[in-house]
Amino acid sequence: MKLNPWEVTEIEDYSKLFEEFGIEPFSEILERIPEPHRLMRRGVIFGHRDYERILEAMERKMPFAVMSGFMPSGKIHLGGKMVMEEIIWHQKMGADAYVAIADMEAHSVRGLSWEKCKEIGIEEYVLSLIALGFEPRGRIYFQSASLEVKDLAFELGTEVTLSEMIAIYGFSGETHASHMFSVLVQAADILHPELEEFGGPKPVIVPVGADQDPHLRLTRDLADRMNKFLIERRGDYISVRGKGVSPEEIEGLARLIPFEKKVYEGHVDVFQGEMEEIKKIVQDFELSSGGYAFIPPSSTYHRFMTGLLGGKMSSSKPESYIALTDPLEEAKRKVMRAKTGGQGTVEKQRELGGKPEECVVFELFRYHLIEDDDELLRIYEECISGERLCGDCKKLAGELLVSWLKDHQEKREQARDLLREYEVVGWKS
Ligand code: TRP
Ligand code: SF4
Repeated sequence: MKLNPWEVTEIEDYSKLFEEFGIEPFSEILERIPEPHRLMRRGVIFGHRDYERILEAMERKMPFAVMSGFMPSGKIHLGGKMVMEEIIWHQKMGADAYVAIADMEAHSVRGLSWEKCKEIGIEEYVLSLIALGFEPRGRIYFQSASLEVKDLAFELGTEVTLSEMIAIYGFSGETHASHMFSVLVQAADILHPELEEFGGPKPVIVPVGADQDPHLRLTRDLADRMNKFLIERRGDYISVRGKGVSPEEIEGLARLIPFEKKVYEGHVDVFQGEMEEIKKIVQDFELSSGGYAFIPPSSTYHRFMTGLLGGKMSSSKPESYIALTDPLEEAKRKVMRAKTGGQGTVEKQRELGGKPEECVVFELFRYHLIEDDDELLRIYEECISGERLCGDCKKLAGELLVSWLKDHQEKREQARDLLREYEVVGWKS
């Protein structure tokens, strides 16, 4: 299987992502989260990398950050809402929040003008993000307006070769150089909360759809490659290896490690002490000698929503998704036309029951419209037992959606007035 971030295909079997790419099942850590988000409880967020690091930061009230981004190339729809909810949830759990409006990506990959990117960025994405509850202490920025991000992107490029870009993204001789640069910009988006000017190294959680995993694999690798020291447990000792580091620097570092150790020209082997403690010493030393000491980012992966008519949701087909800015009547009409898992006739439905797993209306309940787990379960059971008819569900979904959208759209208008209280880098009213 190949994941391509720019041509989202359907993923038939999410469990393949565990074996092929080493994404871990989210279900395994769910019980350690005190009040998991609806999307976590429902298995919509199905996978993660290194979420333990985030759990630990939340448990110990240590600094951590949440970071994600949106390409301003179309309408904000229910799929984008999921990422926004995850960002806001982590912000409420104490994370510093960073949101990139990926205008460099939209300009280089989708060919949108800078002006159009600004307009869509604010009108679609930023307003909904604020309306959903993003707090002003977070940082929202247009990629093109963040010098820190662009400088870091350039620097990260010193560790990436063309062959690697080809291997990860399937780029070819026809790929534009700016498209490739936008990949480095995304890696910089993800790593920049760890720069000194943003408070230094910290765990960063990146909530994304599964299609974005190639970016995370590259970025995690880059974090390691940019660092001056590699710390590894090797049997009964911990090895701290320098990259391009002088023997004097190694000795300087070794002096700070208060445990039994052996110092070599390019590395130190440490025979006592906890990993975490040694990491902290090495990290401080690296920072004081001008290094990054990046911690590789963690990530969560959520499932894609099905298109309303079945098949995949596509931004070029407005009938396939609900936009957060859809007029209420139109949204309702889309729900009424949605594909269900029903049997076609009332008699058959009563006899055989419906298939909620194949039902887009049920998906709307599960992902978005019904917060209460018991209520969702009740609908599920009534569906499979044949007690429920699709008309009932559509009516309910239409009502719930319209009342949610109405409220959201009012909040969006209020957000317009609130905009000035937010730091939106690259936006001027
Ligand atoms: N590439 C992402 C998309 O197409 C947008 C994005 C830009 C992003 N920078 C990011 C996502 C950083 C996560 C983290 O939707
Ligand atoms: Fe979907 Fe409801 Fe029909 Fe079941 S009864 S298939 S949940 S619309």
